[in-house]
Amino acid sequence: MTKRPSVWVSRPLFADALARLEQHVDVHAEAIERVHAPDQLRARLAGVDAAIVSLSDRVDAHTLADNRRLRVVANPAVGYNNLDMDALTRAGVLACNTPDVLNETTADYAWALMLAAARRVGEAERWLRAGQWKGAMRFDDWLGVDVHGKTLGILGMGRIGQAIARRAAGFDMRVLYHNRTRLPEMVERACAAAWVDKATLLRESDHLVLVLPYTRDNHHIIGASELAAMKRGSVLVNIARGGLVDEAALARALVDGPLAAAGLDVYEDEPQVHPALLALEQVVLSPHLGSASADTRHAMADLAVDNVLAGLGLGPDAGHPPTPINPHVLRARGAPDKA
Ligand code: DGY
Repeated sequence: MTKRPSVWVSRPLFADALARLEQHVDVHAEAIERVHAPDQLRARLAGVDAAIVSLSDRVDAHTLADNRRLRVVANPAVGYNNLDMDALTRAGVLACNTPDVLNETTADYAWALMLAAARRVGEAERWLRAGQWKGAMRFDDWLGVDVHGKTLGILGMGRIGQAIARRAAGFDMRVLYHNRTRLPEMVERACAAAWVDKATLLRESDHLVLVLPYTRDNHHIIGASELAAMKRGSVLVNIARGGLVDEAALARALVDGPLAAAGLDVYEDEPQVHPALLALEQVVLSPHLGSASADTRHAMADLAVDNVLAGLGLGPDAGHPPTPINPHVLRARGAPDKA
């Protein structure tokens, strides 16, 4: 009898997704959520044929050093800055992510943060819960920033950015975006969005949402000078990756201007949040939950399982993982083209 492949799941995953894996492979799933030290990760990856990892698992040349049998690493996220793609490809390991299934949910959340930050929802709720609402409120209490009718700026107009843009029609907003590459006119029209250079985006956006992938090249793409160039009274929302923003500079821009508020779901040193941001009432902070709706997290887990099985040559899509990041690894293995 041939030995079943072995798959390590680095964090607790939904039982139905694990059950589907178990039909084909031996599953070793962690029962509690934890951050794995590089050497633990290295030992775990060395002993399996595939792994489903999490964003806090950094898979790089060091963690792959003892690798003899690993063939697939699945990241149940669209972003994969935790994966060193050169190291994985050199090691012949297929990497997969979970794009698309989370677009709409993550776009919803960008709006939730934008509205909450602009209208001071977090700050007002803390005040109310602390029993501060004692008498009549002043007419000029809790003045926020309008969202409707304003200019929405999107830095990074991929599929999530486009989903954010489409929602702006309901708020009568003008939508500007900046990408290195301009989108085809048809896509721009569908999103009612206009391409502008980065300087114009910063200068004209009342609400600026960051949705771009994090790479070495765009580390602190929003730093002190970019923040200084933003509109007075504007709102910054980051649902992408914390390393895109210089957090100390952001805290200064919230205190000294020009920013009125910020909504952050991601941080440079997760799970640590910069203390200067924690101290500010005008920042809405959430713990990297942009894709966390029940439906979407199930879809992400299912897609990760599909990728693992197909990458190992098992299940209905054997040899054809739906969302590979480095598909050339499969071609190098001599996988047949899909019929
Ligand atoms: C992603 O998919 O990259 C999100 O940040 C994880 O929820």
